[in-house]
Amino acid sequence: MTNKLELGVNIDHIATLRQARFTPYPSILEAISLIEAAGADAITLHLREDRRHIQDADVYAVRKHLNTRMNLEMAVTDEMLAIAKDVMPEDVCLVPEKREELTTEGGLDIIRHFDRTQKVTQALNEVGIKVSLFIEPNIEQIKKVAEIGAPKIELHTGTYANATGKAKQNEFQRIIAATEFAQAEGIQVNAGHGLDYQNTHAIAAIPQLRELNIGHAMIARAIFVGIKAATEEMLAIMHTARQ
Ligand code: PXP
Repeated sequence: MTNKLELGVNIDHIATLRQARFTPYPSILEAISLIEAAGADAITLHLREDRRHIQDADVYAVRKHLNTRMNLEMAVTDEMLAIAKDVMPEDVCLVPEKREELTTEGGLDIIRHFDRTQKVTQALNEVGIKVSLFIEPNIEQIKKVAEIGAPKIELHTGTYANATGKAKQNEFQRIIAATEFAQAEGIQVNAGHGLDYQNTHAIAAIPQLRELNIGHAMIARAIFVGIKAATEEMLAIMHTARQ
């Protein structure tokens, strides 16, 4: 079965540029309008505990402004749970977070953090926010998703993105196996991290995937062609992969 493949654009690094000088520009709201006009399906943003890019006020401003769907990435903490319940994004993606990391490194270990992940997932389920668990393409992790109660997972593609040669092929096979296993369990499968204009085609061609969340490479591309064209180019890659 081939599902429709949606694109969530991660806008964090527009805020990274703004926070580098604490200027009012570049405006994430202006960017969202252009991203939506280009045909993206969702806006993804990560409110990190250290607030290094997206700020609390951004989350509320984006909530009011967007016409598509908000996918809020957040750590599995009570602070973030309270913010999510106040903002009410359509989707929350639960991610691991370490203060010293450059970006999200690896998936959430839902076996190790089972109780906390289950508690936060169920609290979000109760208010009608759809939860996605950002995990490694690992069958043992996926076996725990139903018990935790999340309807979706996002498979971490960072290892695939960084690998070369045989290791890249192996990781790609792991992503396919994880996607097929999760889909058979009735879980919606998304993917993201490290996807760019070279490596997205292969991932987008996996027919069971429902959504890709892509940020850094698109914001970098936008420096040269603008965010609207950068979004259109990525959508074209995804579309071609599904033909
Ligand atoms: N998905 C998740 C869960 C993430 O944490 C990130 C990075 O914030 C992305 C997707 C986007 O990754 P990238 O910026 O490498 O495209």
